[in-house]
Amino acid sequence: MTDKMLEAFDGTRKAGSIASGALDEVAKIIKPGIKTDDIDKLCFEFINDNHAYSAPLFYRGYPKSCCTSTNHIVCHGIPRNKFLKEGDIVNVDVTAQKNEWHGDTSRMYFIGEVSTKAKKLVRTTYEAMIKSIKILKDGIQIGDIGYVIQNHVEAAGFSVVRDFCGHGIGRNFHEPPNILHYGESKTGEKLKTGMIFTIEPMINEGNYETKILNDGWTAVTKDKKLSAQFEHTIGITDNGYEIFTSSKKELDFPPYKI
Ligand code: MF3
Ligand code: CO
Ligand code: CO
Repeated sequence: MTDKMLEAFDGTRKAGSIASGALDEVAKIIKPGIKTDDIDKLCFEFINDNHAYSAPLFYRGYPKSCCTSTNHIVCHGIPRNKFLKEGDIVNVDVTAQKNEWHGDTSRMYFIGEVSTKAKKLVRTTYEAMIKSIKILKDGIQIGDIGYVIQNHVEAAGFSVVRDFCGHGIGRNFHEPPNILHYGESKTGEKLKTGMIFTIEPMINEGNYETKILNDGWTAVTKDKKLSAQFEHTIGITDNGYEIFTSSKKELDFPPYKI
């Protein structure tokens, strides 16, 4: 790797560890009766306390420091004065900007006991992301990522959202290339050592179609069925990959044992 690549990796590692640290903190407080606004406050403060900036805040007019997407919300749910209740599933998505570099990550959380169907959807989404990460190395193609995710998800009877994708990340929050979570193997741009991007599959219990609510942000499933998502920021190394947003507390996947 070149010095420039090492500098980007070092910066993204620091930003990523703050973002994943925020999600570890969320795991400690999230339960029935807390508000999505409480999650936003915690993320804002944790990221600030770590001398970083919450990249979503004021990004293209976005009003909050994180996204909280419950149940049929696919992504970009805006934290507000809304109580979480037993049985909800929630994605919390945070992005820390530290010394110019960005780390973007999200996890699902269970609020109390959730349905068997919800557990299966969340597990399948996590497995699909991890399976696609494990194939990453210099020379594979972007289509290989989507192919692995789509296969895993459709075998379980779920569908891959088409309207949102992963993205390059670096000094900018969102950069080329787009990382589609569906597709054909041996198609698309080749991954190269030094590339940094996110994989963030949104997986629906029913149909993959989404629509945006009147607030201009909240994306929901058209059929009002459940949706789940996980996200990591990852870099391609000389001999494979590095995940920059892993939990340091093994809080990778719910239910979280705190
Ligand atoms: N964190 C989201 C992503 O994974 C983007 C959120 S943009 C916001 O790319 F403005 F809604 F915060
Ligand atoms: Co992202
Ligand atoms: Co994100």
